[in-house]
Amino acid sequence: MNAIYLYCRPGFENECAAEIQEKAGWNEIYGFIKLKKNQGLVEFHVYDASQVDVLMQKLPLTRLIFTRQWFAAIGEPLELPEYNRVEAICEALGDEFHYEDLRVETLDTNDGKALSKFSRKLSVPLRQALRKQGVLAAKEQAEHTRGATNLHALFFSGQLVQLGYSYIANSSIHPMGIARLKFPSKAPSRSTLKLDEAFLYFIPRDEWDTRLASGLNAVDLGSAPGGWTYQLVRRGMMVKAVDNGPMADSLMETGQVKHYQLDGFKFRPSKKNNYWLVCDMIENSTRVAKLMASWIVDGDCKEAIFNLKLKPGKNRYQQVMKNLAQIKDVLSDNDVWYEMYAKHLYYDREEVTVHVRVLNQR
Ligand SMILES: C[S@@+](CC[C@H](N)C(=O)[O-])C[C@H]1O[C@@H](n2cnc3c(N)ncnc32)[C@H](O)[C@@H]1O
Repeated sequence: MNAIYLYCRPGFENECAAEIQEKAGWNEIYGFIKLKKNQGLVEFHVYDASQVDVLMQKLPLTRLIFTRQWFAAIGEPLELPEYNRVEAICEALGDEFHYEDLRVETLDTNDGKALSKFSRKLSVPLRQALRKQGVLAAKEQAEHTRGATNLHALFFSGQLVQLGYSYIANSSIHPMGIARLKFPSKAPSRSTLKLDEAFLYFIPRDEWDTRLASGLNAVDLGSAPGGWTYQLVRRGMMVKAVDNGPMADSLMETGQVKHYQLDGFKFRPSKKNNYWLVCDMIENSTRVAKLMASWIVDGDCKEAIFNLKLKPGKNRYQQVMKNLAQIKDVLSDNDVWYEMYAKHLYYDREEVTVHVRVLNQR
């Protein structure tokens, strides 16, 4: 058992691989990568097997930008017979280790999607059998102890499965790390799902009442036709929407939106009472990073969510790290205390989403 399996968006395996190698290295844990392009899966084989578990606990998943979900492999991929697959999995697991729940997964590819019906069907008898064997807890608990783990079963086909485990406190609550959201029929663009997912991912639910509260002021740069503005409006915020393009009438009719047909790089609110800055401008990521940092340093927002558009090519991980470092440098130089996280979210494509929250300012 010496591999960590990481799920990412298909096509971003190199970014996911470069990131886990670098960030494991920061913890003095080294290994080599195995991946197949466009499978949305990266294997990180750690040279010292005892370090796999260390890394799974020590490196926060929230610090991995391109990894949606991960697990530590239990053994090699397991070949399954045509019949009695459940028994074969139970036998391979034995009863030495105990897990809270089971995550039956497939890859985020067309083949994986085709297989998901089969794996969902199998999950019912498999869960039952594992509970009976005492491998899984009898019932899923609402609260978990620190070291509690989930069991993963990643099906490559009906005949091949990779088993693994992840620490519940350091993994995604969503299957394969994918939060599937329903497109709100009144939203003017599909982009709306990106901000909806970002709020879900970055802002803890028990803080929504204060941090996503009705009555807060927000600025949306690159707002047209209004998918992101829709998410702010539906939470009762007052929005300054900045874009040369037109905003959806349905949003303007709410009375909560003021539209500014201006360049997003030149606009600033006249008062210091703005809470949120969101930005989805399709612009050079270095320019956007610089702009975001300057809003924060100038006290023009308390929290920001923005996209960094990725340039096609080999160095997309390095590009994001460079942009984040650029922001860190400006904030540190100006004595801003902040937290910053970045994630390649499910509804992101050629971009990553960044969240910055000011904790304390001079
Ligand atoms: C991906 S779209 C935004 C979609 C929007 N977030 C939504 O959910 O409907 C990008 C927008 O950025 C705008 N944009 C690009 N550069 C801009 C700039 N310098 N100033 C203002 N808007 C800009 C474009 O006009 C375009 O409407």
